[in-house]
Amino acid sequence: MLVEDGFSVTSVDASDKMLKYALKERWNRRKEEPFDKWVIEEANWLTLDKDVQKPGDGFDAVICLGNSFAHLPDFKGDQSDHKLALKNIASMVRPGGLMVIDHRNYDYILATGCAPPGKNIYYKSDLTQDITTSVLLVNNKAHMVTLDYTLQVPEEAPELSKFRLSYYPHCLEAFTELLKNAFQGPCQHSVLGDFQPYQPGQAYTPCYFIHVVKKTG
Ligand SMILES: C[S@@+](CC[C@H](N)C(=O)[O-])C[C@H]1O[C@@H](n2cnc3c(N)ncnc32)[C@H](O)[C@@H]1O
Repeated sequence: MLVEDGFSVTSVDASDKMLKYALKERWNRRKEEPFDKWVIEEANWLTLDKDVQKPGDGFDAVICLGNSFAHLPDFKGDQSDHKLALKNIASMVRPGGLMVIDHRNYDYILATGCAPPGKNIYYKSDLTQDITTSVLLVNNKAHMVTLDYTLQVPEEAPELSKFRLSYYPHCLEAFTELLKNAFQGPCQHSVLGDFQPYQPGQAYTPCYFIHVVKKTG
């Protein structure tokens, strides 16, 4: 969508399997100039500074959406990998630039044991037949949330598509603190719920929290 709207885009992922989809799209639309200029790199958030060439002072905006960051596990148990990855991502933002990063509403998931019932903003949730939620506690602290998805994909009917994804459950307050520490300088932080203005305690329960951080210094 960003390339279509004429932005200069650098896209990264650690998985070459995922990159193949982007590379295929770029190849198919290479005759359109923005697609010809689209940079697609294999890069890991943990080594982003080495994997990605930063343009000048940095990018105007760094965007990490779709509950992607929650895919990074906390194998060491001290969130040091989360801190390192966020510091690397924040370092790619130019002064005055933005970082936009989201996670599912794990506060709700941990409180209720289920994903919020609203419409999913990232995929066609009308295809979803079931999401089964499991929470792994380590020393009485939520360490991993596993979602088992069952989808009815029309092209695959009558077969149901079933897959399992595991995430680190980032809660709103703790993730805000991680983000503020990742920017080693002045910044403004705001939160959206499902891309709408969010007020704590509001009636509507968002499925996703989207953090927007502006590097002001
Ligand atoms: C929900 S998918 C999003 C896919 C795609 N990049 C997009 O934005 O639509 C999450 C992606 O995060 C990637 N990912 C997980 N850990 C990563 C890491 N440490 N560094 C870079 N990418 C990572 C996965 O390979 C996966 O493709």
